[in-house]
Amino acid sequence: MRLDKFICESTSLTRSLAKKAMHRGDVTCDGEIIKNSGFKVTDAHTICLDGEQLSIIGPRFIMLNKPVDTICSTIDEEYPSVLGLLDVIKPEELHIAGRLDADTTGLVLITNDGQWSHKITSPKKECGKRYLLETAEPLADSLVEQFATGLQLNNEDGLTKTAVLDILASHEARLTITEGKYHQVKRMLAAVGNRVTKLHRECVGTIELDSELELGEWRYLTDEEMKSVK
Ligand code: URA
Repeated sequence: MRLDKFICESTSLTRSLAKKAMHRGDVTCDGEIIKNSGFKVTDAHTICLDGEQLSIIGPRFIMLNKPVDTICSTIDEEYPSVLGLLDVIKPEELHIAGRLDADTTGLVLITNDGQWSHKITSPKKECGKRYLLETAEPLADSLVEQFATGLQLNNEDGLTKTAVLDILASHEARLTITEGKYHQVKRMLAAVGNRVTKLHRECVGTIELDSELELGEWRYLTDEEMKSVK
Protein backbone atom coordinates (compact mmCIF):
# COMPACT_ATOMS: atom_id res chain seq x y z
CA MET A 1 0.00 0.00 0.00
CA ARG A 2 1.19 3.54 -0.76
CA LEU A 3 2.50 5.43 2.27
CA ASP A 4 -0.01 8.30 1.92
CA LYS A 5 -2.91 5.79 1.84
CA PHE A 6 -1.43 3.91 4.82
CA ILE A 7 -1.38 7.15 6.84
CA CYS A 8 -4.98 7.97 5.87
CA GLU A 9 -6.13 4.50 6.90
CA SER A 10 -4.41 4.64 10.25
CA THR A 11 -5.08 8.26 11.32
CA SER A 12 -7.72 10.94 10.89
CA LEU A 13 -5.52 12.76 8.33
CA THR A 14 -6.73 13.43 4.81
CA ARG A 15 -4.50 12.53 1.87
CA SER A 16 -3.25 16.14 1.56
CA LEU A 17 -2.50 16.48 5.30
CA ALA A 18 -0.69 13.13 5.17
CA LYS A 19 1.47 14.45 2.32
CA LYS A 20 2.20 17.67 4.25
CA ALA A 21 3.27 15.61 7.29
CA MET A 22 5.61 13.62 5.04
CA HIS A 23 7.09 16.75 3.49
CA ARG A 24 7.72 18.17 6.98
CA GLY A 25 9.71 15.00 7.76
CA ASP A 26 7.25 13.83 10.44
CA VAL A 27 6.88 10.34 8.95
CA THR A 28 9.45 7.59 9.33
CA CYS A 29 9.76 4.02 8.06
CA ASP A 30 11.97 1.82 10.25
CA GLY A 31 13.46 5.01 11.69
CA GLU A 32 14.22 6.75 8.37
CA ILE A 33 12.37 9.86 7.25
CA ILE A 34 10.31 9.18 4.12
CA LYS A 35 9.04 12.08 2.00
CA ASN A 36 7.89 10.06 -1.02
CA SER A 37 4.12 9.56 -0.68
CA GLY A 38 4.23 6.70 -3.22
CA PHE A 39 6.62 4.68 -1.02
CA LYS A 40 5.28 1.11 -0.79
CA VAL A 41 4.54 0.00 2.77
CA THR A 42 4.69 -3.73 3.54
CA ASP A 43 3.72 -5.69 6.69
CA ALA A 44 7.40 -5.79 7.66
CA HIS A 45 7.68 -1.98 7.90
CA THR A 46 7.23 0.08 11.07
CA ILE A 47 5.72 3.44 10.17
CA CYS A 48 5.69 6.27 12.71
CA LEU A 49 4.10 9.72 12.65
CA ASP A 50 5.65 12.19 15.11
CA GLY A 51 7.34 9.19 16.73
CA GLU A 52 4.05 7.29 17.29
CA GLN A 53 3.76 3.91 15.57
CA LEU A 54 0.78 3.69 13.19
CA SER A 55 -1.39 0.71 12.42
CA ILE A 56 -4.37 0.43 10.05
CA ILE A 57 -7.79 0.91 11.62
CA GLY A 58 -9.66 -2.25 10.70
CA PRO A 59 -13.30 -3.18 11.28
CA ARG A 60 -14.74 -1.59 14.40
CA PHE A 61 -17.55 -2.95 16.60
CA ILE A 62 -18.88 -0.82 19.43
CA MET A 63 -21.66 -1.03 22.02
CA LEU A 64 -23.12 2.14 23.48
CA ASN A 65 -25.65 2.73 26.25
CA LYS A 66 -27.86 5.31 24.55
CA PRO A 67 -29.29 8.10 26.70
CA VAL A 68 -32.62 9.81 25.92
CA ASP A 69 -32.61 12.90 23.70
CA THR A 70 -29.98 11.49 21.35
CA ILE A 71 -30.69 10.01 17.92
CA CYS A 72 -29.47 7.03 15.94
CA SER A 73 -28.69 9.07 12.86
CA THR A 74 -25.20 9.71 11.55
CA ILE A 75 -25.81 13.47 11.72
CA ASP A 76 -27.23 15.77 14.39
CA GLU A 77 -30.84 16.73 13.72
CA GLU A 78 -33.42 17.72 16.36
CA TYR A 79 -31.18 15.96 18.90
CA PRO A 80 -27.46 15.17 18.72
CA SER A 81 -26.37 11.90 17.09
CA VAL A 82 -25.14 9.12 19.38
CA LEU A 83 -21.96 9.10 17.27
CA GLY A 84 -21.01 12.37 19.02
CA LEU A 85 -20.66 10.37 22.25
CA LEU A 86 -17.82 8.33 20.78
CA ASP A 87 -14.29 9.49 21.26
CA VAL A 88 -12.88 7.76 18.18
CA ILE A 89 -11.11 8.81 15.02
CA LYS A 90 -13.05 8.76 11.74
CA PRO A 91 -16.52 8.64 13.32
CA GLU A 92 -17.91 9.49 9.87
CA GLU A 93 -17.02 5.93 8.75
CA LEU A 94 -19.32 4.41 11.36
CA HIS A 95 -23.01 3.55 11.12
CA ILE A 96 -25.64 2.32 13.54
CA ALA A 97 -26.92 -1.26 13.34
CA GLY A 98 -30.60 -0.86 14.23
CA ARG A 99 -32.02 2.45 15.36
CA LEU A 100 -33.65 3.41 18.63
CA ASP A 101 -36.07 6.31 19.05
CA ALA A 102 -34.88 9.54 20.67
CA ASP A 103 -36.74 8.67 23.89
CA THR A 104 -35.50 5.04 24.01
CA THR A 105 -32.41 4.13 26.04
CA GLY A 106 -30.05 1.17 25.96
CA LEU A 107 -28.02 -1.00 23.66
CA VAL A 108 -26.93 0.47 20.34
CA LEU A 109 -24.41 -1.35 18.16
CA ILE A 110 -22.14 0.75 15.96
CA THR A 111 -19.74 -0.45 13.29
CA ASN A 112 -17.98 0.30 10.02
CA ASP A 113 -18.73 -3.24 8.74
CA GLY A 114 -21.83 -3.21 6.54
CA GLN A 115 -22.04 -7.01 6.21
CA TRP A 116 -22.00 -7.41 9.97
CA SER A 117 -24.73 -4.81 10.57
CA HIS A 118 -26.85 -6.37 7.79
CA LYS A 119 -26.99 -9.59 9.84
CA ILE A 120 -28.50 -7.58 12.70
CA THR A 121 -30.97 -5.51 10.74
CA SER A 122 -32.10 -7.81 7.92
CA PRO A 123 -35.59 -9.19 8.74
CA LYS A 124 -34.54 -12.48 7.09
CA LYS A 125 -31.86 -13.05 9.73
CA GLU A 126 -34.48 -12.87 12.53
CA CYS A 127 -31.97 -11.46 15.03
CA GLY A 128 -33.76 -11.05 18.38
CA LYS A 129 -33.91 -7.69 20.14
CA ARG A 130 -34.99 -7.68 23.77
CA TYR A 131 -36.59 -4.62 25.37
CA LEU A 132 -37.61 -3.71 28.89
CA LEU A 133 -40.73 -1.58 28.79
CA GLU A 134 -43.19 0.23 31.01
CA THR A 135 -46.76 0.97 29.99
CA ALA A 136 -49.50 3.45 30.81
CA GLU A 137 -52.17 0.72 31.20
CA PRO A 138 -51.95 -2.64 32.99
CA LEU A 139 -50.70 -5.64 31.01
CA ALA A 140 -53.20 -8.53 30.88
CA ASP A 141 -51.87 -12.11 30.85
CA SER A 142 -53.80 -12.75 27.61
CA LEU A 143 -51.35 -10.47 25.79
CA VAL A 144 -48.65 -13.15 25.96
CA GLU A 145 -50.55 -15.31 23.49
CA GLN A 146 -51.56 -12.35 21.33
CA PHE A 147 -47.93 -11.25 20.98
CA ALA A 148 -46.88 -14.83 20.22
CA THR A 149 -49.54 -15.18 17.52
CA GLY A 150 -48.81 -11.80 15.91
CA LEU A 151 -50.47 -8.40 15.90
CA GLN A 152 -51.90 -6.29 13.12
CA LEU A 153 -50.10 -2.94 13.08
CA ASN A 154 -51.51 0.13 11.35
CA ASN A 155 -50.36 0.49 7.73
CA GLU A 156 -48.65 -2.93 7.63
CA ASP A 157 -49.49 -5.99 5.57
CA GLY A 158 -49.77 -9.16 7.63
CA LEU A 159 -49.18 -9.81 11.29
CA THR A 160 -46.00 -9.15 13.24
CA LYS A 161 -43.74 -12.18 13.67
CA THR A 162 -43.93 -14.19 16.87
CA ALA A 163 -42.79 -12.06 19.79
CA VAL A 164 -42.08 -13.16 23.35
CA LEU A 165 -43.77 -11.07 26.03
CA ASP A 166 -42.73 -11.72 29.60
CA ILE A 167 -44.90 -9.74 32.02
CA LEU A 168 -42.85 -8.70 35.06
CA ALA A 169 -45.37 -6.48 36.88
CA SER A 170 -48.74 -4.86 36.14
CA HIS A 171 -47.11 -2.14 33.99
CA GLU A 172 -43.73 -3.68 33.17
CA ALA A 173 -42.60 -6.37 30.73
CA ARG A 174 -39.75 -7.73 28.66
CA LEU A 175 -40.44 -8.09 24.97
CA THR A 176 -38.29 -9.90 22.40
CA ILE A 177 -38.94 -9.23 18.73
CA THR A 178 -37.09 -10.38 15.62
CA GLU A 179 -38.21 -7.58 13.30
CA GLY A 180 -37.30 -3.91 13.33
CA LYS A 181 -40.28 -2.10 11.87
CA TYR A 182 -40.53 1.64 12.47
CA HIS A 183 -41.50 2.25 16.15
CA GLN A 184 -42.33 -1.44 16.32
CA VAL A 185 -42.57 -1.91 20.09
CA LYS A 186 -44.63 1.24 20.61
CA ARG A 187 -46.95 0.26 17.76
CA MET A 188 -47.36 -3.28 19.11
CA LEU A 189 -48.49 -1.91 22.46
CA ALA A 190 -50.72 0.62 20.71
CA ALA A 191 -52.29 -2.25 18.75
CA VAL A 192 -53.55 -3.73 22.04
CA GLY A 193 -54.83 -0.38 23.35
CA ASN A 194 -51.85 0.41 25.56
CA ARG A 195 -48.99 2.95 25.45
CA VAL A 196 -45.28 2.60 26.10
CA THR A 197 -44.08 5.12 28.69
CA LYS A 198 -40.47 3.88 28.96
CA LEU A 199 -38.40 1.76 26.61
CA HIS A 200 -34.91 0.35 27.07
CA ARG A 201 -33.06 -2.14 24.83
CA GLU A 202 -31.18 -4.76 26.82
CA CYS A 203 -29.97 -7.23 24.24
CA VAL A 204 -29.40 -7.74 20.49
CA GLY A 205 -28.91 -11.37 19.42
CA THR A 206 -26.86 -12.69 22.33
CA ILE A 207 -25.07 -9.38 22.95
CA GLU A 208 -26.22 -8.00 26.31
CA LEU A 209 -25.75 -4.36 27.22
CA ASP A 210 -22.76 -4.26 29.58
CA SER A 211 -24.08 -3.35 33.04
CA GLU A 212 -20.84 -1.44 33.71
CA LEU A 213 -21.74 1.13 31.03
CA GLU A 214 -23.53 4.20 32.33
CA LEU A 215 -25.88 6.03 29.98
CA GLY A 216 -23.76 7.67 27.28
CA GLU A 217 -20.79 5.33 27.81
CA TRP A 218 -19.44 2.87 25.25
CA ARG A 219 -16.86 0.18 24.72
CA TYR A 220 -15.55 -2.00 21.90
CA LEU A 221 -17.19 -5.42 21.58
CA THR A 222 -15.15 -8.44 22.58
CA ASP A 223 -14.18 -10.85 19.80
CA GLU A 224 -16.71 -13.32 21.14
CA GLU A 225 -19.54 -10.72 21.04
CA MET A 226 -18.60 -9.66 17.52
CA LYS A 227 -18.48 -13.25 16.27
CA SER A 228 -21.83 -14.11 17.93
CA VAL A 229 -23.62 -12.27 15.11
CA LYS A 230 -24.18 -14.96 12.50
N1 URA B 1 -39.46 0.00 19.00
C1 URA B 1 -39.86 1.26 19.24
O1 URA B 1 -41.03 1.57 19.21
N2 URA B 1 -38.91 2.16 19.54
C2 URA B 1 -37.59 1.87 19.62
O2 URA B 1 -36.78 2.74 19.91
C3 URA B 1 -37.19 0.55 19.36
C4 URA B 1 -38.15 -0.38 19.05
